[in-house]
Amino acid sequence: MKILGIETSCDDTCVAIYDFKNKFIISSISHHHDNININYGGIVPEMSSREHMIYIDEILIKLFKKSNLSIYDIDAIAYTAGPGMVGSLLVGATIATSLSYLTNIPLIAINHIEAHLYSPFIENDIKIYYPFLGLLISGGNTQLIQVFEFGKYKILGKTLDDSIGNTFDKISKLLNLNYPWGSNITILAKKGRSGKFLFPRPMIHSSCLNFSFSGLKTYVTKIINKYKYNKQKLSDIAKEFENSIFDSLIFKCKKAFYKTGYNRLVVSGGVSANKTLRKKLYKMKNNYSILFPKLEFCTDNAVMIAYLGGLRFQERKKNVFNIFIKPKWNLNQL
Ligand code: KG4
Repeated sequence: MKILGIETSCDDTCVAIYDFKNKFIISSISHHHDNININYGGIVPEMSSREHMIYIDEILIKLFKKSNLSIYDIDAIAYTAGPGMVGSLLVGATIATSLSYLTNIPLIAINHIEAHLYSPFIENDIKIYYPFLGLLISGGNTQLIQVFEFGKYKILGKTLDDSIGNTFDKISKLLNLNYPWGSNITILAKKGRSGKFLFPRPMIHSSCLNFSFSGLKTYVTKIINKYKYNKQKLSDIAKEFENSIFDSLIFKCKKAFYKTGYNRLVVSGGVSANKTLRKKLYKMKNNYSILFPKLEFCTDNAVMIAYLGGLRFQERKKNVFNIFIKPKWNLNQL
């Protein structure tokens, strides 16, 4: 069963063909909008949707050439219908729907958050087990999810303000680091000394499972401004920033384990690529089972869209042929 995946929810134009039965990636191509993001200091929705429009046909043609397949070898087309930026979503939705309409190949509308949630199971050769706790940490979302079974979710906690990825990007820019902002903090933090600063651990005294990062962001900004010409101090700040943000994340995960009685954590999203976080979570491996995606599946990609498309296709939950997008689409609205 071959699934074509199309992802255009944010700032990456991605297409992939995934062989769901034999569990392997036939071909995958991503066009990242890095140059535009660097020029503008972040994502500009209108610029991203235009970039999707320019590149989507080209990379689809390349994908089929590379995989030596024709569209008629495809069993289903899965595309990201939401959540995401409306102009960007429309590009993927329009091309997927048009292809499906022309060829009569079934169309599957995919929820981007749900696709991230299952990304650690792609190629990890691990059977999906239920129930588990999902920790989605990306540029657009920060959520703790109780996963009862396929398609049945409860949001236990989410960020009340900024996403964790966004917080990394802002602090990284203030530290004068280059793109990719998130991972460059870890490199700077390597030169940092422990115990030189003590930042607050956000929300650890509240009984809920929500997160908040804007207070920490303001606090760290003030400290950076104070020491902006001292290289060693900036490394120390990067180290303590990672410690603070990840300690609060892990604190909430432990609380969620306790509340649900679960002992399995499945981490996903761009920030799940972070090495410091992985090291910290691996320390809990004696008591809990922890699963991460392969590095190439942490940030947005079309393989995860095709993979979830395969899971949905098995269930025969197909969409009708109309252009469907939902820029705000929670997991409990599936
Ligand atoms: O999952 P993703 O591609 O975007 C959404 O679907 O929203 O994640 C992108 C985010 C960016 O904010 C980026 O800085 C962050 O993930 N990121 C990282 C790392 N790699 C990517 N943050 C911290 N450490 C990393 N190694």
